[in-house]
Amino acid sequence: MRKFSVCIVGGGSTFTLGFLKSFVRMREQFPLKKLVLFDIDKERQDIIGKFGEILFNEKFPELEFVYTTDVKEAYEGMDFVFMQMRAGGLPMRAKDEHIPLSMGMVGQETCGAGGMAYGLRSVVDMIKAVHDIREFAPAAWILNYSNPAAIVAEALRREFPNDKRILNICDQPENVVRSCSRLLGVDWETLDPVYFGLNHYGWFTHIYDINTGEDLLPKIKDLISQNGFLPQDAEQRDPSWLDTYGMVETLMKDYPEFLPNTYNQYYLYPEYKASHLNPDFTRADEVMAGREKRVFTECKEVIAAGTLGDKFDDISDAHAEMMINVAEAIAYNKNNRHILIVENNGAINNMQDDAMVEVVCELGTNGPRPMRVGNIPQFNLGLLVNQVSCEKLIADAYFEKSYQKALEAFTLNRMINDGKKARKILDALIEANKGMWPDLK
Ligand code: NAD
Ligand code: G6P
Ligand code: MN
Repeated sequence: MRKFSVCIVGGGSTFTLGFLKSFVRMREQFPLKKLVLFDIDKERQDIIGKFGEILFNEKFPELEFVYTTDVKEAYEGMDFVFMQMRAGGLPMRAKDEHIPLSMGMVGQETCGAGGMAYGLRSVVDMIKAVHDIREFAPAAWILNYSNPAAIVAEALRREFPNDKRILNICDQPENVVRSCSRLLGVDWETLDPVYFGLNHYGWFTHIYDINTGEDLLPKIKDLISQNGFLPQDAEQRDPSWLDTYGMVETLMKDYPEFLPNTYNQYYLYPEYKASHLNPDFTRADEVMAGREKRVFTECKEVIAAGTLGDKFDDISDAHAEMMINVAEAIAYNKNNRHILIVENNGAINNMQDDAMVEVVCELGTNGPRPMRVGNIPQFNLGLLVNQVSCEKLIADAYFEKSYQKALEAFTLNRMINDGKKARKILDALIEANKGMWPDLK
């Protein structure tokens, strides 16, 4: 069985710990030759890296493991590059959320003004990073899930039009499928979804039982209206995620045709969400007080003890597992199904060809093969055309350094939806993002 070399960009991310453990748990199905962590923040990454040394020494001693801030050392010889950077870090995420909320608009990592602000930062750093990768690893598969994935995907499509080995992915559709499996009491891998949308803005039209072909969506709808909706790993989730999944019940009452991605709550109830989120303690604050603290405390404890002790178990990490499964599909030409972000080209028949859409694809060594969903209803189409326009205008703003394009994106956005508000929040975000955004003229 061929072994592969993987680099993780954003080695100091709060998600890296889960990846390190998952690479150990999944070493039979996706055997690694070499694993490299790359980050621009040495201090942050060193803590995760030192934990990794102890973990692999005890559990995977034949693995070559390196952590570095040098691009050549990071990328040379890589087969896969997993990208999970956060341009500006969690403190800038907090600003993306706090500033719009303080003005009465949704502040969120990937949606609304906050998402567009993060988009402009992320595109700057992601384009630079992909050029660096291509210098040293021209044939590596780049698996990107750095957010906001929709805007990043659109910008990478334009900057690297002939590069067929860049794949953009999000785990949320699969997370929703996993939640359905919890409701139904079945293994999530027996569920065969049909899904369409943009990243963080899509719907399941069917969820088939893979063995019988029965569409389980009617049953899932009944179960949601009786029991509500929980993430598969609800016991490990923070309160805000439980609220988010809870909103699926409301969404299904108001728009019963399809099962929504959880991020629909921001697009369909922007005023309700803006008035119910706390502008002084948002998801970024919850992450910094929770996941970030937990991850770095665990690493430091292991480093101090010099041994893993009880800090390794069999509890799976859905996010890392999904990304590794995606790499595995490409590595071993599995041609199995994944929900991926790809150029539309008719997958959603009544949407423009050059939209980056999220649909079910078969995935193998030659990349994704999207499965067509046909024409979508006018309601969903209207919502998506509005949002894809925002995403494209933000990419225009980046490439043309255009204030006007950014203003148009902000004006169109459902979480702003007003020219005067758009200008006010855009100006505030320009100020907050000095040195991290292109200079908009
Ligand atoms: P984090 O801030 O803890 O980690 C990000 C790391 O990236 C930091 O260590 C930072 O120093 C590093 N970084 C920043 N700019 C960089 C650059 N130019 N090159 C290399 N490294 C850089 O953030 P997090 O909460 O762990 O999230 C990491 C990223 O993964 C975010 O973009 C998040 O949105 C994304 N994510 C996406 C999905 C998805 O399904 N699409 C799921 C989970 C996480
Ligand atoms: C989901 C989304 C991601 C998001 C992640 C973590 O998986 O699909 O895009 O980055 O959640 O969000 P959090 O708020 O926990 O950092
Ligand atoms: Mn996502």
